[in-house]
Amino acid sequence: MEINYIQAVRDIFSKREAPPLCCVHSYGCQQNVSDGEKLKGQLCLMGCGVTDDMTAADIIILNTCAVRENAELKVYGNIGELKRLKEQKPDMLIAVGGCMGQEPKTAEKIKKSYRHVDIVFGTFAAKELPRLIYEALTQRTFIVDTAERNTECFEDIPAVRSEKYKAGVSIMYGCNNFCSYCIVPYVRGRERSRSPEKIIEEIKRLVSDGCKEIMLLGQNVNSYGRGLEEKIDFPELLRRIDNIDGDFRVRFMSPHPKDATKEFFDVIAESKKICRSVHLPLQSGSDRILKAMNRRYTAEQYMDMVEYARKVMPGLSISTDIIVGFPNETYEDFKQTLDIVKAVKYDNIFSFIYSKRTGTKAAEIIDHTSEEDKGKWFRELLAVQREISEEHYKRFLGAEFDVLFDGTYKEEFISGKSGEFIITLVKGSPELIGTMRKVRVTKTHNWAVEGELV
Ligand code: SAH
Ligand code: SF4
Ligand code: F3S
Repeated sequence: MEINYIQAVRDIFSKREAPPLCCVHSYGCQQNVSDGEKLKGQLCLMGCGVTDDMTAADIIILNTCAVRENAELKVYGNIGELKRLKEQKPDMLIAVGGCMGQEPKTAEKIKKSYRHVDIVFGTFAAKELPRLIYEALTQRTFIVDTAERNTECFEDIPAVRSEKYKAGVSIMYGCNNFCSYCIVPYVRGRERSRSPEKIIEEIKRLVSDGCKEIMLLGQNVNSYGRGLEEKIDFPELLRRIDNIDGDFRVRFMSPHPKDATKEFFDVIAESKKICRSVHLPLQSGSDRILKAMNRRYTAEQYMDMVEYARKVMPGLSISTDIIVGFPNETYEDFKQTLDIVKAVKYDNIFSFIYSKRTGTKAAEIIDHTSEEDKGKWFRELLAVQREISEEHYKRFLGAEFDVLFDGTYKEEFISGKSGEFIITLVKGSPELIGTMRKVRVTKTHNWAVEGELV
């Protein structure tokens, strides 16, 4: 007979004096954060309360990221710190899940060196959490689930969201692109899309609940729809979402430049609710490196795409990801990246020094570029971008932004993001947090703008 693990765990917990508290800590990208909210959702179904305080928790889940080595080192540091907590509270459960959990080497290492961890599970096992908790509670042995379940979406699970006014909505899972440096396709499996009905239903529910900003999530959102029975692609999904009634705006993360069609930009340009900001990960401006990265576009194609996007949306704000120091990159290659950065004038760049990921194609390359050079180029890129932002943000002086406030900055500022995805600061009271307000820009920096409420 199939066990109802949610009920089984509830029964165990109901014998305790008070319901146990769980703490789910997510690392990495928005999609992982969104998965973490569903891990919390499952724990609530099992009868747990939620806390952000690890020292108060009876169940801790580290929902990890494997994209770069320093992301992994951070996680191991945090796992190490939990040892003392477990000594004080031997009954607590510690689980390591997410993208690192999916890599078989993680469970091996944890089993050997971090004996206070009870469960290791991968991204494919996210829905299996009730069973894993049940097994850990009843068997008190080290539980591992890294099995590949490539077809599943993490679907039909109530999310416990940390904010009411903005939400991430996964539209697809996995990645088929196999950029040669990237671990994501190995830890997240093949692309699979959620049905448009489920996505739209979820967005309608969020909007009627007061949500003002929806971030559509996927490793490559413009592969959306491939493999679904119904013939639908990302531009069509955007159109349908734009037609949903209500007072909210839409973003998405991330499109892959190779799949960014003219139609895709046209739909954004014609829409009422989609923010005029796109994240277009360049990675490198050198065709030689782009080819070695398996990105499947050239610098020229990328620039044509930017030109078209700005033609149909003159004020469009563009951000990007850049990797510095891919194996055997030369200064000549790097200079071509700088050329594109200067030509596009990004509003924001997220730059990373290449990190070798075992199992990927790029990890097999013998790299002759020194770490010292990579560091030097990285700092050069940051300096160039600082100057560009400094100049470029001045175009916003006097502009009116729609800002969704979400936090504070220093003592006197309330901060939020504009539709252009620009950090905007105003002097005001914390009651602004969670509201969308018009702000006139009065001062610009190279990382944010300041303004006043209109
Ligand atoms: N699917 C998204 C990227 C997810 S990973 C996309 O294609 O845009 C986020 C970013 O991390 C990537 O854009 C890349 O710039 C960076 N990244 C991925 N693997 C990396 C590695 N091995 N070393 C350094 N940066 C990496
Ligand atoms: Fe990684 Fe490339 Fe897939 Fe993005 S598109 S997740 S960089 S393999
Ligand atoms: Fe990291 Fe996994 Fe996201 S590797 S970037 S958390 S998909």
